[in-house]
Amino acid sequence: PPGVRYEVETAPAECQGTIDSDHSGFSGSGFCNGANAAGSYAQFTVNSETARTATVGIRFANAASAGARPANLVVNGTTVGPVSFETTGAWSNWSTKTATVPLNAGSNTIWLDPTTAAGLPNIDCLDV
Ligand code: GCU
Repeated sequence: PPGVRYEVETAPAECQGTIDSDHSGFSGSGFCNGANAAGSYAQFTVNSETARTATVGIRFANAASAGARPANLVVNGTTVGPVSFETTGAWSNWSTKTATVPLNAGSNTIWLDPTTAAGLPNIDCLDV
């Protein structure tokens, strides 16, 4: 079946920061500029008809001079693994990190939890 795109600016997704649109190339109407703090998360709610393993794509941009902005990928409360979110060179250069995640039948919470005081890169959307 075709993939589903979940925009971070569309509820029930959450952004602990602001939804901005000042760097081009995002999909939908904006992106999440998370607060620059550890634990300042972005969250997506993903529905799945069945329990399954899915590949997800996280679209992001990072031009921070300090480099990577790592985060934990947390699915339904369980940490699946780290995501490196290295620099993309410009805030308007978007890249996608993929990860394999377990989904339950029904509603799933996918949480990006930054592990440094720099917080998340800019987050555009999640493809499932
Ligand atoms: C800049 C940039 C933002 C970005 C921020 C950051 O202010 O314009 O889009 O989120 O840096 O470092 O987090």
